[in-house]
Amino acid sequence: MSNIDLKNVDFETLVIHAGQGPDSAYGALATPIYQTSTFCFDSVEDGAAKFAQQVPGFHPVYSRAGNPTTRAFELKCAAIEGGEDAVATASGMGAVGSVMLAFLHPGDHVIFDTAVYGGTNYVASINLPGLNVEVSRVDTSDLEAVKAAIRPNTKMIYFETPNNPMMKLTDVAAIRAIAGDKIMVVVDATFAPPPQQHVLKLGADIVLHSITKYINGHGDCLGGVIVGKAADMGKIRLNCVTKINGCPPSPFNSFLVLRGMKTLALRIQKHSDNAMAVARYLEANPYVKTVYYPGLESHPQHELACRQMENGLFGGMLSFELKDDVKGLSSFEAGKKLLNHLKIASIAVSLGDPDTLIEHPASMTHANVTPEDRAAAGISDGLIRMSVGLESANDLIADLQQAFDAI
Ligand SMILES: Cc1ncc(COP(=O)(O)O)c(C=O)c1O
Repeated sequence: MSNIDLKNVDFETLVIHAGQGPDSAYGALATPIYQTSTFCFDSVEDGAAKFAQQVPGFHPVYSRAGNPTTRAFELKCAAIEGGEDAVATASGMGAVGSVMLAFLHPGDHVIFDTAVYGGTNYVASINLPGLNVEVSRVDTSDLEAVKAAIRPNTKMIYFETPNNPMMKLTDVAAIRAIAGDKIMVVVDATFAPPPQQHVLKLGADIVLHSITKYINGHGDCLGGVIVGKAADMGKIRLNCVTKINGCPPSPFNSFLVLRGMKTLALRIQKHSDNAMAVARYLEANPYVKTVYYPGLESHPQHELACRQMENGLFGGMLSFELKDDVKGLSSFEAGKKLLNHLKIASIAVSLGDPDTLIEHPASMTHANVTPEDRAAAGISDGLIRMSVGLESANDLIADLQQAFDAI
C-alpha cells in the first residue's frame, strides 16, 4: 500500500495512488491480476480464523467474497468518493440490484425519479413491485413533490444526477434535508463521477456508478461500484453481492478499471471541454430546438450545476432535440438521418468512452420505458443523446456539420 499521506493531496494524485501501492509479493508497481478462484491457508486454524474475519487486514478466502485486485479497485473508489468503504460489482446494474436487495424489504416504500436508466426503470417498475416493495415515481428535482410522496414506510429516495438522458439535476443536499435521518438517499452518479461532483459530501448515504462508463473510461469492460458507510457496505457484501447474488467483477476487469482510473482527472477535463464546445455549436445551429447540457447558461438548472458540480466540470454528456421541420423532415426522421451520416461519432449506447457515441433514447436505451413514462420524463421521439469523447472538438463539430449538410 502507498506511503503517501492521501488526506493531503489533490484529486489528480489521489486517483493515481489511492488503493494501490507496490505489490507485497514482488513490488510490482501495477497491481497484479490475482486470477484465482480460491486462496490457501497455512492450517485449518488459519483458515477458520480468516473465514471468521478474526484476522485484522484484508485476507481473501474465495474470489466471490473478495479478491486483492478487486479490493484495490474498491479502495480507490472509496477514496475518490470520500466514502468509508466500497463494494465492486460486475456491472452497474449489479450495483443497482445489490443496493435494492440489501436495503429494501416487503412492505417498504421507495421513491424513484421519473427518469432513470432503462435497466433501473425495470427494477422500479417490475422487480421491486414483484417483491411487494411499494414504488412511487416522482420528479426528484421537484422538492415539494418529493416531500408529498413520503409515506411512513418510505425507506429510500433514488435518483441519478445528472439524469439519463435529459441531463436534469437533482439537488442532493436539499433531498438529504427532506429525507431526514430515517430515509436513505441513494444517488447514481454515473454521468458525473469525481472530480466533477462528490455526492456523499452533499449528503447522500450511498453513491453508485456504472464503472463501465467514465470511471473505467475506455469502453472495454463492464463494472459497477457502491460507495458509502462501512456498516452499509458490510451489509451489502454479506447479505447480497458476494454470498447470494454472486456478482463480483472478474480480477481482469478490476485490473482494467484500476488502469483506466489513473487518467480519470485528465479525461473528465477533456470530456467537459469538448462537450461544452459541441453544446455551444449545437445551440447556435438553426436546426436545433433545444440543447440539454448543465454547463450552458440556458440549462434551467445551471445555477444548481455550478453549485453541485465542481471546478467548472460539467462532463461529457449532452442531449439535444431537432426542430420539427428540418428540410421538410420531422425531428424524428431528421435525427435518424443525422446519426446515419456521422463519420466520427459511432451510433452506440453506453457513454464515457474515448470515442464519441451517439444514440436515440426512444428506440435504444429507453425502448423498454413505456411511451407514457417517456413523455412524463420529457424524452421525446426526436431526442438525441451524445457522449462526447476525447477526439478533437474541432473534428467533432466538423463531423456534425457535414452530417447536418447531408440531411
Ligand atoms: C445512469 C446509468 N446507471 C446504470 C447503468 C447500468 O450500468 P451497466 O451497463 O454497467 O450495468 C447505466 C448503463 O448505461 C446508466 O447509464
